[in-house]
Amino acid sequence: MRFNFVTLFPNIVKGYFTDSILGRAVEQNLINLHFYNPRDYSKNRHLKVDDAKVGGGAGMLMAIQPIADTIKDIKAKDSKSKIIFLTPVGKPFKQIDAKRLAKEESVTFVCGRYEGFDERLIEEYADELFSIGDYVLTGGELGAMIMCDAISRNVPNVLGNSDSLIEESFENSLLEAPSFTKPNFYEKKAVISEFLKGNHSKIASIKRCLALSKTKYFRPDIYSKVKASHEK
Ligand code: ADE
Repeated sequence: MRFNFVTLFPNIVKGYFTDSILGRAVEQNLINLHFYNPRDYSKNRHLKVDDAKVGGGAGMLMAIQPIADTIKDIKAKDSKSKIIFLTPVGKPFKQIDAKRLAKEESVTFVCGRYEGFDERLIEEYADELFSIGDYVLTGGELGAMIMCDAISRNVPNVLGNSDSLIEESFENSLLEAPSFTKPNFYEKKAVISEFLKGNHSKIASIKRCLALSKTKYFRPDIYSKVKASHEK
């Protein structure tokens, strides 16, 4: 799968994809990352990429021309790429989006800086707008990295064991049940004794109960949705 990043700071993003699971996915060509810096497309003689807001207002915006030309270039090279703008006014990014987008051939993340984008860029080019949470960051790069990580895990063969995708949190709308490693006792704390007995249907039923309790405690918002869907 191909990921294009439109960013003034490609080095922030590149570092994240050099190690661990995603570093291996890049090496094995399971995911391909391409970087486009709007500064390279600026027609301003000082290569400016920001501009003041028309009508006044605090701060600067990303100028329209460098980003528009960057996206046009990407579309010319990679016409099927889904263009995603990272912005705090986007819809909240969810696991279901990660799974859906992992089926795309290519995704382009457009990362804002300053006070955001000229709205016409969004109207003209955005297929979707995403936020990674209700807080304002200094730029879209972290959001793009988070989205790219969550999507990449759902690309076939990126995770060594694809079973991890089945049981993990947010599947079936519940948080994942608690898990343990060896030793069975650690500083006077024991793992759940039933987990040691090898009765897999019993273990599954305990895990389901624990997943329900954990969801109810930590994420009452998710729990009420699960409850409502069972009551239908
Ligand atoms: N850019 C700035 N804040 C952001 C957020 N919360 N999500 C996505 N992109 C952003």
